[in-house]
Amino acid sequence: YEGAERYLPDTGSAAGVRDLREAARGCRGCDLYQDATQTVFGAGPEDARLVMVGEVPGDREDRTGEPFVGPAGGLLDRAMEEAGIDRGTVYVTNAVKHFRFTPAERGTRRIHRKPSRSQIVACRPWLVAELSSVDPEVVVCLGATAAQALLGPSFRVSTQRGELLDALGGELPRPPRVLATAHPSAVLRAPDDERERAYGLLVADLREVAGAL
Ligand code: URA
Ligand code: SF4
Repeated sequence: YEGAERYLPDTGSAAGVRDLREAARGCRGCDLYQDATQTVFGAGPEDARLVMVGEVPGDREDRTGEPFVGPAGGLLDRAMEEAGIDRGTVYVTNAVKHFRFTPAERGTRRIHRKPSRSQIVACRPWLVAELSSVDPEVVVCLGATAAQALLGPSFRVSTQRGELLDALGGELPRPPRVLATAHPSAVLRAPDDERERAYGLLVADLREVAGAL
């Protein structure tokens, strides 16, 4: 597998999100297309001022073809609302566009797996093309996978979250400011006595974003 680059539309950097979404349906840039149901491309207004980038679609997203429609999406919607961000104005996508999972030992449940470094690199051309087309003012990286895709492999969300950074200067004509925060799934997975605090930190980071728009 050679990565997504050769599946991008011929229109290059002029491609709109619709062209990109259509082209991504046939991507075989890494091995993940084989077992997943479909490509889950980004969704939302094509001229959004804010883009949110998750990790990889989950089970529900794989079945529906839409990003952040499962439990993590529910929490994200709630956090955005509390921070004063209307999801309808946000373009939401993922660093990797096909579901990665391990089948449960019994039954049909499929357990989410983190994408590998090489899968993140393989899929990155779609993300850069989306950002180039949408041309947002601010990009939020939800969790380490998105942050490492856009801010580099040495970026640490634990110590560098919540700051509006300059990034992607060499790759996008009008580089956005980029802020990394926790992934909503990490909030859901936090132990009972830490969940509320983790959720509060996510909302605080999103308020910072709302204030920057
Ligand atoms: N988690 C993600 O990172 N993305 C989704 O779309 C859903 C869950
Ligand atoms: Fe292509 Fe990304 Fe899917 Fe891999 S995960 S096949 S690079 S769209």
